[in-house]
Amino acid sequence: MNASLIFSPLAEGAGAPPRQQQLLTRFKQAILDGQLPAGGKLPSSRSLCEELRVSRNTVLAVYEQLIAEGYAQADRQGTRVAALAHAQHSARASVARTGSGRQSRRVATMMPTRDAGDRSLPLTPGMPALNRFPIHAWLRAQERALKQAPPLVLGYGDPLGEPALREAIAQYLRVARGVRCEASQVVVTEGAQGALSLCVRLFANPGETAWMEDPGYGGVRAAFHAGDLKIVAMPVDAGGILIPERAWRTRPARLIHVTPSHQYPTGAVLSLARRLELIAQARQAGSWIIEDDYDSEFRHRGHPVPAMQGLLPEAPVLYVGTFSKTMFPALRIGFLVLPESAGEGAYPALAELLRGGHRLEQLALAEFIAGGQFSRHLGRMRRLYRERQQALREALDRHLAVEHEVQGGDSGLHLTVRLPLAYEDTVISAASRAAGMNVGALSSFSALRRQAANNGLVIGYGNTSEEQFAPLIRRLAGIVRANG
Ligand SMILES: Cc1ncc(COP(=O)(O)O)c(C=O)c1O
Repeated sequence: MNASLIFSPLAEGAGAPPRQQQLLTRFKQAILDGQLPAGGKLPSSRSLCEELRVSRNTVLAVYEQLIAEGYAQADRQGTRVAALAHAQHSARASVARTGSGRQSRRVATMMPTRDAGDRSLPLTPGMPALNRFPIHAWLRAQERALKQAPPLVLGYGDPLGEPALREAIAQYLRVARGVRCEASQVVVTEGAQGALSLCVRLFANPGETAWMEDPGYGGVRAAFHAGDLKIVAMPVDAGGILIPERAWRTRPARLIHVTPSHQYPTGAVLSLARRLELIAQARQAGSWIIEDDYDSEFRHRGHPVPAMQGLLPEAPVLYVGTFSKTMFPALRIGFLVLPESAGEGAYPALAELLRGGHRLEQLALAEFIAGGQFSRHLGRMRRLYRERQQALREALDRHLAVEHEVQGGDSGLHLTVRLPLAYEDTVISAASRAAGMNVGALSSFSALRRQAANNGLVIGYGNTSEEQFAPLIRRLAGIVRANG
């Protein structure tokens, strides 16, 4: 409302509100809108009487009411708008700012460095075979969980997760991954992402430094940013993360995120020499290594590589895992294995931070693991992914008629295909999406945008059936050639 509207004629006739009420509403709105600024004098009663053809008593009654309700104040010179009008003014301004200025600075830093694309498309990196998941067995396990413990499962539950699941995870990790742990060290989280966030909250202070692999996992970058950590990107080569010796002195890190079993996304396996060196240096520097073991269950070649966590007693390792690949991503169950030494101190904070919940799924998963269905499913999926990887390799060999090098594939659900720089991976990735497949650009995983070292494609084979590879790779080859 413009202040001059105060003087515009009042509504008249049948159904019009009383004139005093109309005038009062006008003033209130004009003050709230900031049209009548704080400290400004209200118009004289005489001018209003003349303009609006209302009685002086009506105007005086309106002014009294404005004073009574705190919209105005009386002083020797007349009636003035109260400071309250300013508050509303800034509230309006803040509405205008919403969307940028009102958010924390870290929101901008958490913007994705890459577009993950439509994950329902074939060739999506890291996506398991959704249509091969034994959904009926899973539903039965959930039903049994509900029957065993109604209505108890409807409550919050243990903040660290269902004891039966923590026990099943600990048992599984000891046997399958060589992790040194007891159930008491296991915290059930919302996927690996929840575990990464917990690592930041429990083990780092704002402003401290965190290292991550480059190219590397965007999820950990976001978790580090959310904790106001300074991120240092460390290069990766065929032997995994490559930490320059001087970095330990010049930019020591509180947290170091690594994917040693299957570097994401290059597929490199961290060599034993580098694992031992990393543990020794981290011990000396007071760093925590976050071992993100996101897809090591699907080992396709050579001996299984045990987890770093179990390599040496009391290694400074925070072990993170997920059921997103072994079960399905929507389950949103992952876990963090706390180091024995740090567990005690962290429990009170964890009890405050976490609220339990998702008990039905957790109990069903515990039964799935303890009853052997989980390992049977893993066995079936391992064979399936091996076949699918082979089919993808053959299709690349046969149809991708440009110079390339296939990397990774010792485990997991994707291959990395290096391309000469002339074939720009981001352009090819975008074109592949337009053509109905979700091929990732390797360089887009690099915070440093080291295009020369990381030009290539990240191709998933988990959620793509065998017969699809030949036609898809033929189409992809056409896109590659057209963009060379
Ligand atoms: C390196 C890495 N860590 C963790 C995950 C899984 O995260 P979440 O359990 O939150 O689904 C992924 C999935 O792509 C990943 O690539």
